Amino acid sequence: MWTIIIICIISLIAYFVTDELIPKLKDLFIKAGLYGVDLCKVSKDKIPEAIGVVSGCVFLVTNFLFIPVVFGNSLIDTRNFPHNEFAELLAGLLSICCMLLLGFADDVLDLRWRYKLLLPTVASLPLLVVYYVNFNSTTIIVPIPLRDYLGPSINIGFLYYIYMGMLAVFCTNAINILAGINGLEVGQSVVIAASIIIFDFMELRGEQYKAHTFSLHLMIPYLATTLALLKHNWYPSRVFIGDTFCYVSGMTFAVVGILGHFSKTVLLFFIPQIFNFIYSTPQLFHIIPCPRHRLPKYSAETDLVQASRTVIAKKDLHLVNGVILKTFTLLHLIERVEDEEYITINNLTIINLFLIKLGPMPEKRLTSSLLIFQIFCSCLAFIIRYPMASYFYNNI
Ligand code: UD1
Ligand code: MG
Repeated sequence: MWTIIIICIISLIAYFVTDELIPKLKDLFIKAGLYGVDLCKVSKDKIPEAIGVVSGCVFLVTNFLFIPVVFGNSLIDTRNFPHNEFAELLAGLLSICCMLLLGFADDVLDLRWRYKLLLPTVASLPLLVVYYVNFNSTTIIVPIPLRDYLGPSINIGFLYYIYMGMLAVFCTNAINILAGINGLEVGQSVVIAASIIIFDFMELRGEQYKAHTFSLHLMIPYLATTLALLKHNWYPSRVFIGDTFCYVSGMTFAVVGILGHFSKTVLLFFIPQIFNFIYSTPQLFHIIPCPRHRLPKYSAETDLVQASRTVIAKKDLHLVNGVILKTFTLLHLIERVEDEEYITINNLTIINLFLIKLGPMPEKRLTSSLLIFQIFCSCLAFIIRYPMASYFYNNI
């Protein structure tokens, strides 16, 4: 408990350091050419981009400072030093550090989509290696109703490593594509991090207390630095966070999920991102045209944002995109306007879906609505994780 109190105190300092550093470094980023324009504002001021690198660096340095706190007792008598746990922490930090570097490279060089998928896979390798050495448990518990057919558990072997690698790719990109309005990327990460912390505290008395303490070591400083970033990124944004932040966040969630052995629960906190990812796939795989930006369209006259749109030429319709369009129309998931030559639909993100269902609204209200939805989904995740899961699994 003492360790956690010290971690909270150091994290509080990390919050103030990040909060102080961001305004001081803003001009340096603009001078280096790292800036963007807010597409949902009248003003075309330069806004520093990739500021996630500041909060990411403070987060990592805070973690380095924790090492003597967490491993303090073992450092006095090094014979009982917990090498396994130390390797886990280092591998986790290495993967996050890798993503910080690669995310920053992406912000500077504007990498292509295929690399965005490849980079997290490579960065998750240290994590997978330490998982192999320390646990190598690739068995999944079968839900009670299926046990008659499949037995109590199945060893899925190598596939489990593929699943974990894909988890890292998913977490990093899922946050990056639910983006484009002030405060949304950081806000959703705060809700996910807070949910994981609540879950950790609930599990601290259980058998897996060590894994949850490990998760808290990472999540508390992450939440502190992210809250400081949110203060500057909230509407109207004084800074943009860049892909650096999305990558660091996604990898941090993947690290605690994998090394804490609760990756399924982490995924439960990603319900809006999972839905947004599935909804986006036709555009991500270019089955339906995907413009460079899918963020909502701003109207200067009304100061409201409305759903942005993409155009499909009827001559480009084929079986696959035709079926997708029909299904989405049937499910009331798109707003479509047709003329003789073209079909115009909203860009496939839940941000635009909110706008077609609720109508145009101010940007700030849109971010708040999406964050309330994220909190609602976290509550749902807890209901699935606790009362419902006990019907499917015992020992939970
Ligand atoms: C992802 C999304 C893209 C979305 C963009 C917005 C996919 C496939 N890609 O691309 O649709 O438009 O994020 O971040 O879904 N910006 C704002 N206001 C904000 C945040 C960002 O106007 O609150 C604009 C700024 O011009 C900023 C730019 O978005 O410079 C950053 O975009 P970037 O993160 O590079 O886009 P991607 O991650 O490639
Ligand atoms: Mg981005």
